[in-house]
Amino acid sequence: MKEYIGVLDSGVGGLSVLSELVMTMPKGKFLYFGDTKNMPYGTKTPEQIYSYTKKILQFFVEKNVKNVVFACNTTSAVAYDRLNREFSGVLKIFPLIQTVAKSAAENLNDNDVLAVFATRATVNSHKYETEIKRYFPAINVDEIDCTGFVEIVENRLYQDKEAFDLIKSKIDLALSAGAKRVVLGCTHYPYLLDMFKSVDCNIEYFNPAGCLAKIVKLQANLDSSFYENDGKIEFFVSKNPEEFRKSASAFFDIQGTINLID
Ligand code: DGL
Repeated sequence: MKEYIGVLDSGVGGLSVLSELVMTMPKGKFLYFGDTKNMPYGTKTPEQIYSYTKKILQFFVEKNVKNVVFACNTTSAVAYDRLNREFSGVLKIFPLIQTVAKSAAENLNDNDVLAVFATRATVNSHKYETEIKRYFPAINVDEIDCTGFVEIVENRLYQDKEAFDLIKSKIDLALSAGAKRVVLGCTHYPYLLDMFKSVDCNIEYFNPAGCLAKIVKLQANLDSSFYENDGKIEFFVSKNPEEFRKSASAFFDIQGTINLID
């Protein structure tokens, strides 16, 4: 049986991670799950996010997935610890925040401010702050709740004035905190980079996806059949496959069927 890497997110955001994984492992076989029925995750409770993610992991296990990438900061923040215990020995899971925290703060000086744009659930968990401070205790981490950004991407509101104003208000917060760098702490946000840069292009925006993909390649338990697949990707969503294709089309050309799984 062929082996896959499973990649999950609430919607199209995880495609920003999938693109990097495919670039890093072009012949690998990937299975992507966008939980569009339950999106956005960021305004849900940790218990809800845990149960949505658990269902996806059970589906992955049925599909012979051995390695899973949480291409979702929110799930990594609030559900990883518990799920990693429950699926130990069955799945090797790569949680986004914990895997990239060190790189996110590299080359900053003590007392520098690192802003993190993230969903409300991620901000409330303080997972970025906790993980970054394990490596760099003297860096100030300012986690900023960017509720509403996910909808800009999912609903393709790139030309919308209110969307622009919302983005500007969050960048103003980062600037007034003195941030040198902003971590894009939600996988939907790299798709807003042009909008971010149109507000301020002096801040450094850090997209963790590239770093995550390199670590997955080094650490995943893959047998040689994974690399004999010519980069096939299978897509699954829990609602509205065609809407998913439309939202993705601004940055990811999805060929073939998007399967609907309830
Ligand atoms: N893209 C996800 C993240 O990285 C989830 C966003 C959401 O559904 O609120 O957090």
